[in-house]
Amino acid sequence: MKLSVLLLAQTFWSLSAIALPNPSPAPIPEDAESLDLSNTTIPDELTSDPLYGAPDNDFSCKSERNPVVLLHGLSADREVDLNMLQWELNKRGYCTFSMTYGAWDLVPWIGGLRNMTDSAKDIADFIREVKDKTGAAKVDIVGHSEGGVQAIYVPMTQDGISDIVERLVALGPAIHGAEYLGVTDLWYIGGEATRSIAKLVQNLIGCPACDDMMTGGKVYYDFKNADKIVQPGNKATIIMSNSDVLVKTEVSRIDEPGVNNVIVQDTCPDDIVGHAGLMWDKSVWRLVVNALEENNDVVFPCEVGLPV
Ligand SMILES: *[C@@H]1O[C@H](CO)[C@@H](O)[C@H](O)[C@H]1NC(C)=O
Ligand SMILES: *[C@@H]1O[C@H](CO)[C@@H](O)[C@H](O)[C@H]1NC(C)=O
Repeated sequence: MKLSVLLLAQTFWSLSAIALPNPSPAPIPEDAESLDLSNTTIPDELTSDPLYGAPDNDFSCKSERNPVVLLHGLSADREVDLNMLQWELNKRGYCTFSMTYGAWDLVPWIGGLRNMTDSAKDIADFIREVKDKTGAAKVDIVGHSEGGVQAIYVPMTQDGISDIVERLVALGPAIHGAEYLGVTDLWYIGGEATRSIAKLVQNLIGCPACDDMMTGGKVYYDFKNADKIVQPGNKATIIMSNSDVLVKTEVSRIDEPGVNNVIVQDTCPDDIVGHAGLMWDKSVWRLVVNALEENNDVVFPCEVGLPV
């Protein structure tokens, strides 16, 4: 069967709550036949979505501010998760860089699945590349979900990285043990068909990263056993929503001196944004910009994000 993707976000011009993609769970095909593993070309319907696509990595970009590396979540990729925030940061004068990490070779557009130790090394290499090629003294990192975990995990575990990163911003990271309601829940752009594909790839090829982050997994224990999760000199901000049912605030927050634990509803009480919605919500973008600029200006009015 041909891969086909529903285009649910045609009119999603403002990224506002007016035109939410359908948040109902994807029907998961049980048979492998519905995914043709001989042709896992990225579906046109996905790439033509207005929410698809990140800026190219332009190493000649110049900015007064640290370059920012953006890290997508589980089963997403650089083109579909923090890509809209990346365009916004570019408009604000930031040089931004992103990569798809943790994808299986067979399906390079579904990232974050391979084990997080391997991905952490790849991300560390990318951070070094960004620092070297831009000539910047330090790099900032913004990650969502699994990418938020990696924003904290990479400086903690990879040699030399904590020395070359400064601000770490994690949106809804599962630091203290995730419980999965379904890893494919992040796929809202392609709708149910895309989520079905992601789920099948996970079932057929595997998701070691899912095990790593789960309570009792490798990453869970690495954090639990760490003397200090956030390394000296690094400024970490954890951004969480009280309406995130996938990764609850107590799973995300890091109670160490100097860590800024921020709840969306403290500044935007009416925002019922959920886990996936953190990536597109301007209430959250404001908190991200504030973390990068170390201020509390209102750079966006409050928005009501996706409740999913
Ligand atoms: C693979 O799928 C894409 C998208 O459905 C299609 O355009 C392409 O022709 C297919 N390639 C092969 C070799 O079947
Ligand atoms: C991660 O996967 C690689 C293979 O890609 C393997 O060599 C390595 O042992 C795995 N590491 C962990 C901690 O699971």
